[in-house]
Amino acid sequence: MNKTTQLYEGKAKKVYSTDIEGVYIVDYKDDATAFNGEKKGTILGKGIINNKITNHLMKLVESKGVPTHFIKQLSDRETAVKAVTIIPIEVIVRNIAAGSLSKRLGLPEGTKLAHTVLEFCYKDDSLGDPMINEYHALAINIATQEEMDVISKYAFMVNDILTEYLKEVNIELVDFKLEFGKTLDGTIILADEISPDTCRFWDCVTHEKLDKDRFRRDLGGVEDAYHEILNRLMGE
Ligand code: TMP
Ligand code: ASP
Repeated sequence: MNKTTQLYEGKAKKVYSTDIEGVYIVDYKDDATAFNGEKKGTILGKGIINNKITNHLMKLVESKGVPTHFIKQLSDRETAVKAVTIIPIEVIVRNIAAGSLSKRLGLPEGTKLAHTVLEFCYKDDSLGDPMINEYHALAINIATQEEMDVISKYAFMVNDILTEYLKEVNIELVDFKLEFGKTLDGTIILADEISPDTCRFWDCVTHEKLDKDRFRRDLGGVEDAYHEILNRLMGE
């Protein structure tokens, strides 16, 4: 399989078309950004680690009934995925208050939520990814009601699968962000990544942050945290 055209360059990944119909290649970078690109940096080795962790977790959720774009890892940084059009909605699931939810609702970080929270943001950098609800998604024609139902169902399934799995390696799944895509025949599948860039992972016992918050908040030990997650998940 060969890359043909670069279709997209995001903050953390590039996406290429290939000479195989319906297959793209994702290429993970070490670039890190935060606050809608205002803060920029590099996390050495991040691309390699996020490629591995994402594929590991995509395979897990796929095996438990959530369809994903994963096909095959090709190299340290590259993975073949099913070609999709990304639905421009960031789907956020929260189990414990942190980050923007803590700010918005005045809840101290670490407060256990009495019910899982599902949020949607409209994926548009020029608008700063504003929070929306299902009505907005329907109103601006970015998804249908049936698609929102499927996305919500899959998001809760991913939460249950990952929460249970991560508990075994002493990681608390605080919150995370998913993106879904649509294949040519209209099927909704999980796309993008599941990594320390897009999830909050805390050590169950010490509550140490083992994710991109270490970069966002200048906490130090960023690379070590990514390695620690890789090690706990895959023994590497
Ligand atoms: P938040 O508390 O800043 O809204 O973040 C919620 C979750 O979403 C957290 O796990 C980090 C993830 N996230 C992304 O993956 N991309 C983003 O651009 C933002 C703002 C958050
Ligand atoms: N996607 C965010 C950015 O704007 C990064 C983040 O906070 O995860 O750069």
